[in-house]
Amino acid sequence: MSSTPSIQHINGTFSHKDILSLDQFSAADMQLLFSHVPAMKHIVEKKEVSKLLAGLLIGLFFYEPSSRTFSSFAAAVKRLGGQTLEYQNPMQTSSAAKGETLQDAIKVFETYTDAIIIRHPEKGTAKKAADAAFFVPVFNAGDGIGEHPTQALLDLYTIYEKHKTLDNLTGVLVGDIKNGRTVHSLLKGFSRFQGNTMYLLSPHQLRLCEEDKKDLKNITIIEIDNESQIPPDAHFWYWTRVQKERFEDAQDYEKLKHSYILSHDIIKKYAGTATIFMHPLPRVGEILEEVDHDPRALYLRSQIQNGLFVRMTLLALVLGKIQ
Ligand code: NCD
Repeated sequence: MSSTPSIQHINGTFSHKDILSLDQFSAADMQLLFSHVPAMKHIVEKKEVSKLLAGLLIGLFFYEPSSRTFSSFAAAVKRLGGQTLEYQNPMQTSSAAKGETLQDAIKVFETYTDAIIIRHPEKGTAKKAADAAFFVPVFNAGDGIGEHPTQALLDLYTIYEKHKTLDNLTGVLVGDIKNGRTVHSLLKGFSRFQGNTMYLLSPHQLRLCEEDKKDLKNITIIEIDNESQIPPDAHFWYWTRVQKERFEDAQDYEKLKHSYILSHDIIKKYAGTATIFMHPLPRVGEILEEVDHDPRALYLRSQIQNGLFVRMTLLALVLGKIQ
C-alpha cells in the first residue's frame, strides 16, 4: 500500500502490510507466522468450511507463467472462503497490450479487490505495484530475479517442521544462485536466525552477485563448484532449475542447464540420513525421478502442501483475520 516508500518491517503486525521481501521479517515474525500454520492445515485436512476470508476478493495478476504459486494462492483464498479475480498473462489479455502502465493497472485493480498478488518478470515490480496501490496490500509472488518471499517462507517452514529449528543449520543450495529468486529470499530468511552456514553449489557464471552477497549478514556463505565439496550431514539440500528465461544467449543456458543433477548416486555419496531434499519446482531434469521415492525427498510432498498452508496463513494475517 502506498505511503510506504521504504520497506515496511512486520514487527509483530502483519495487518494490511505488503509482503514484498524477506527483509521485512525478523525471526520472531516468522515464528508468529509458523504458529498459525497447523490451524490452516487442520482446515484443509478436515475439510472444514472456513469463512475467514468470506466477502473478500483477491486479485491474482501473473505476468509470468506459474503453476504452484498461482494455484496455491487461489486455493488458499478459496479454502478460507474468499473469492479470486484471476488474470494470467495480462501482457496479452489486459490493457497492458495497449500500453497501459503497471501503475494505472494496479490503481484500477485495487478498486475491485481487497488484496493484489502479483508476479512479474522485472525485479522491483512488486514494490512498484505496492507503491501504486493506495488501499490494498500487495503480495510479491516473484519479481524477476529479485525475490519470492512466500516461497521462502514455505521453504523455511518445511525445514523448521523437519528439524524443529532454523538456527545452527547447514544447507546446500544448488543451481542458479545468481538468478534464482527463491534462493535470494531463502538466504535472507536464514540470515535472520543464528549460526547458519549455507553452501552455494553453482557454476562460476551463476554465483550470487556481490550486491546480493552484501545484504547477507549473520550467515556464513561458502561457495563451491563441485558435488565432492558438499559437507557431510547437511540438514537440507535445496536444488534449483537454471533459469532459462534470464539468459540472453541460449547457448550459455544449454551449457549450464545440467551442471548438477541430483541422483541416487549423489545422495549415496554425500547426503546424511536426516538430510532433506527440496526444490521449489518446476524441475527440468536436474532431479532424477528415481529420487522421488526417497522418503527424504520433500519437493513433491510436504514442501508443496506447506505452500498452501503458509499462503493461507499469510493471507489471513495480512487481511487482519488472525493475529
Ligand atoms: C520458482 C519461481 O517461479 O521462482 N517457482 C515457484 O514459484 N515455485 C522457481 C523456478 O521457476 O525455478
